[in-house]
Amino acid sequence: MAKIKTIYYCQNCGNQSPKWIGKCPVCGEWNTYAEEVIDKDEEKLKEKKGFSLRKTEEVKPVPIKDVHEMETERIDTKDSELNRVLGGGIIPGSLVLIGGEPGIGKSTLMLQLALQLTGMKVLYVTGEESDRQIKMRADRVGIKNEQCYILTETNTQQIFKQADLMRPDLIIIDSIQTLQTVYVESTPGSVSQVRECTAEIQRFAKEAGIPVFLIGHITKDGMIAGPKVLEHIVDTVLQFEGDRNYTYRILRTTKNRFGSTSEIGIYEMIGAGLRPVLNPSEILLTQRDEDLSGIAIAAMMEGMRPFLIETQALVTPAFYGTPQRSATGFDVRRMNMLLAVLEKRAGFRFGTKDVFLNIAGGMRVEDPAIDLAIMAAMVSSFNDISVSSKYAFAAEVGLSGEVRAVSRIEQRISEADKLGFEKIFISKFNPKLELKKYNIEVVQISKVQQLVEELFG
Ligand code: TYD
Ligand code: MG
Repeated sequence: MAKIKTIYYCQNCGNQSPKWIGKCPVCGEWNTYAEEVIDKDEEKLKEKKGFSLRKTEEVKPVPIKDVHEMETERIDTKDSELNRVLGGGIIPGSLVLIGGEPGIGKSTLMLQLALQLTGMKVLYVTGEESDRQIKMRADRVGIKNEQCYILTETNTQQIFKQADLMRPDLIIIDSIQTLQTVYVESTPGSVSQVRECTAEIQRFAKEAGIPVFLIGHITKDGMIAGPKVLEHIVDTVLQFEGDRNYTYRILRTTKNRFGSTSEIGIYEMIGAGLRPVLNPSEILLTQRDEDLSGIAIAAMMEGMRPFLIETQALVTPAFYGTPQRSATGFDVRRMNMLLAVLEKRAGFRFGTKDVFLNIAGGMRVEDPAIDLAIMAAMVSSFNDISVSSKYAFAAEVGLSGEVRAVSRIEQRISEADKLGFEKIFISKFNPKLELKKYNIEVVQISKVQQLVEELFG
């Protein structure tokens, strides 16, 4: 019988220790060590499993020019949003981790993918739900793929066996936290299980050349549960996020060995599954009859895609000692900075005001080009004078009140133009622009004072 030994693992970063310790020396977290049982013969088992596939003498250095280019024939997912975040489709043999809070729609997205790939054999492995539950969801989504197989199994070796017999074109595993390998004795979901299972799947995917999508739950602080090493093992990490109060969901790439990480995909959760949103501006601009104070529209970019989004500010007198400052979807520190700039450079007394800020649709924005729109919204609310809903803004604001150029300004201008905006406010410091081709009036400014003059004269 194999000897059993136990190791303590930090549940936060995956560091090991032979004995329990209170504070992790690697990640600095307290009280994160938990005991997990390891098979003593693990090393031997690993050899048996064929850890070193090639003998060392076979591997020689090759000049880089002689290295064959990787086959980039990607599988089209038939979902433009998913294709985009993956960098153009699924790479054969790649391992993609998709993380998100419970109930956000991970299983739905993956099942939809499985059902959309008509003509391809897809194996959907589930350790979370019964096959009947999946069938019900499939009926709801309503797409049909005769070759979509469901396997309710949590043992990795069994999964590989079935996959070997079936040779699917794609495997989906829901979820990594339910998997169990015989080589580690701790409970499913524990750090050592999660790590070992992922490593096994990665090996399997590479050897069999079958792409695998792995669903992972996230912890309350938004990290994919399990050690950080999990993210190191896989090729691509996607985060599925969204506000529970909105139907919009955003799929974000946080790591991608085969593409850019700045892309996002937008979906809407409807009665029949997730609908890819091809024109985000349509949902991020609210329809209104009259112009209201405190609203300004930013022309922003996510990855390569421009879209217009509404920013809203509410400025009210502060009745209590310290004025309140709160922001949803935007960094509060940056908002405070913008308020300070307005105070110092344009003479607005925000010191005695409560300021609330909101970005439409539950979006979280990091593009600095949204600064100018936020300033316009704040000043508009302060003055209680509306900004025309036909105006858009795209510029960063610096500490001295200078209005700075931002990337891809032409794309932003043409998107606003396309959507019928009348004016767009940008920085004067953008490189030479061809403005003749647009119908939209482009207002180039260099200081925040100018913004205030232009808008509120
Ligand atoms: P689910 O994919 O089960 O989430 P996860 O796997 O991330 O936990 O999605 C759950 C939610 O999605 C659930 O609250 C119901 C909703 N939903 C719809 O609104 N429409 C649909 O067609 C489906 C399948 C789910
Ligand atoms: Mg699920």
